[in-house]
Amino acid sequence: MITTDVLIVGSGPAGGAASLFLSTYGVDNIVLTRYGWTANTPRAHITNQRTIELMRDMGIEDQIVDNGTAHELMGQTAFCTSLAGEEIGRIRTWGTHPRRLADYTEASPCLPCDLPQTLFEPILVSTAASRGAQLRFSTEYLSLEQDDDGVTATVRDRLSDTTYQIRAKYLIGADGGRSKVAQDIDLPMAGAMDIEGSMNIVFEADLSRYVAHRPSVLYWVLQPGAQIGGIGAGLVRMVRPWNEWLIVWGYDISQPAPVVDEAMATEIVHNLVGDDTIDVKLKSTSVWSVNHMYAEKTSKGRVFCMGDAIHRHPPSNGLGSNTSIQDAYNLAWKLALVLKGQAAPELLQTYDVERAPIAKQIVDRANKSRNQFGQIFRALGMTPDAPAGRTIESRKDDTPEGATQREELRQAIELKDYEFNAHGVELGQRYKSSAVIEDGTPEPPYERDHELYYHPTTWPGARIPHCWLTRGTDTVSTLDVVGKGRFTLLTGIGGEAWVKAAQSVSEHLGVPIEPYVIGPGRELDDLYGDWARVREIPDEGCLLVRPDAHIAYRSFEQPDDPTDALQQAISALLGRG
Ligand code: FDA
Repeated sequence: MITTDVLIVGSGPAGGAASLFLSTYGVDNIVLTRYGWTANTPRAHITNQRTIELMRDMGIEDQIVDNGTAHELMGQTAFCTSLAGEEIGRIRTWGTHPRRLADYTEASPCLPCDLPQTLFEPILVSTAASRGAQLRFSTEYLSLEQDDDGVTATVRDRLSDTTYQIRAKYLIGADGGRSKVAQDIDLPMAGAMDIEGSMNIVFEADLSRYVAHRPSVLYWVLQPGAQIGGIGAGLVRMVRPWNEWLIVWGYDISQPAPVVDEAMATEIVHNLVGDDTIDVKLKSTSVWSVNHMYAEKTSKGRVFCMGDAIHRHPPSNGLGSNTSIQDAYNLAWKLALVLKGQAAPELLQTYDVERAPIAKQIVDRANKSRNQFGQIFRALGMTPDAPAGRTIESRKDDTPEGATQREELRQAIELKDYEFNAHGVELGQRYKSSAVIEDGTPEPPYERDHELYYHPTTWPGARIPHCWLTRGTDTVSTLDVVGKGRFTLLTGIGGEAWVKAAQSVSEHLGVPIEPYVIGPGRELDDLYGDWARVREIPDEGCLLVRPDAHIAYRSFEQPDDPTDALQQAISALLGRG
């Protein structure tokens, strides 16, 4: 029988990333996908800062950024009657507003970019394969059985139509929104599937003349009918600048799904572009449904689900593949430590505790964002509850009603910040679980809106704040110092006893911990003084950072016996208490 440590079902963003992380950490893994290659349509594209940080940790940030559309071309998001028609409003998205750009650049060494799934997935799986993963294409997962020592999966080679078994110590179900793995282990799901109908039309056409003056990855079209089904409004989305596009258009889910033939697809493209003379080369069409569903529990025994298998939602906020990749990052280091005998299997239970609340959060957020288009339609007089006499044209009137309408429209567009500039949702995840040792301080309050703004803190459970340090003549991020599959201990001048403690605990427990003193004359210096501003501990305190860059343990002082304090903390969080 074929054996492996981790069997991953699915080679999408979740499965591909899980394989990349595990392979980089030296964990034997096999990836299955029922298809002959990776995604064949662009699907997800917004690649947020946190995801790029993870790729930076894997050493492949340059491949992501070089293949993606640059941040400065992402953000002049327009609301219009059609691309050629009247423009109703514009919002600077993904942190491109000068005011928000400061927030984004201060929070991370990386900026968002736009990378369609067709280009991202091959980078994930080919890098994973180059680091030791085994990939099995055209191979379908059929069923699983688990016992105390492992999981046996039955799979089918679709080329030869033969069925065989793979034995693994753990299995990851990254098999998408219709996950058979999640179903087979009876994960409890909340919410509803198929709440709206939608279609994707991918096509080639040179639309530069309609977008050159407002480069963006999203152009929202507000036409009669654009509110039916779908993701809130009609969407013309850039796939590759500026000649490959994807239109998202809704349909009434209570009716049979339309057959989107060439004539229908071309008509929709012409309507949304507002120009029926453009030459359209159709690449693909597909019909899909909008879901509002999340798993209340994400694992059972030795089987862990991630990605769309546990969060199913519309593409609003661009959270789909980002969250899928971040799920994988959360689980991978835990699996690596358990498989290497450095942590107890109980550590794996914290995957569920940490990621299930995020599944709920993003599913709710994405659906709320989809609904919030309603206020723009209302402001334009396109809903039954809009004030009488209001139309798109009436917003131009020199009347009190016209002024009210203009203000309502401005506010309705501003509300879309919660979809397009939700920096707190993208970057501000804080974990509470037994893999985080509380330090007795209350959770720091959010000084600004917690969804729109990221709040840096070293409160245990939060991601370590980014700031620039120096190492000789190099400038490095705090995020470059941590990660790489191992724990990191950070202290200041006067905290040298923590370094000795880290070395001794590392040796005693057999768990790699990289200690650093940050300060003048040391390997890392805080020349800008930014670390002193964000670290929230004095020089003699310490931060223990998990392999996924979240703070595991924080101390404000140096106790009498730092080795004992550190050993207790690490043993507790690794379940070796
Ligand atoms: P994903 O669905 O990507 O991958 C599942 C994997 O499992 C595939 O490799 C598949 O072959 C495999 N698999 C499934 N069953 C299997 C079995 N029984 N045996 C073996 N392999 C199996 N998001 C967004 O943010 N913006 C967007 O515009 C879009 N658009 C979009 C369009 C369409 C048509 C779809 C289907 C989805 C989107 N999405 C999207 C959502 C986004 O694509 C999604 O969030 C991520 O792909 C989720 O990644 P996963 O890896 O979890 O699943």
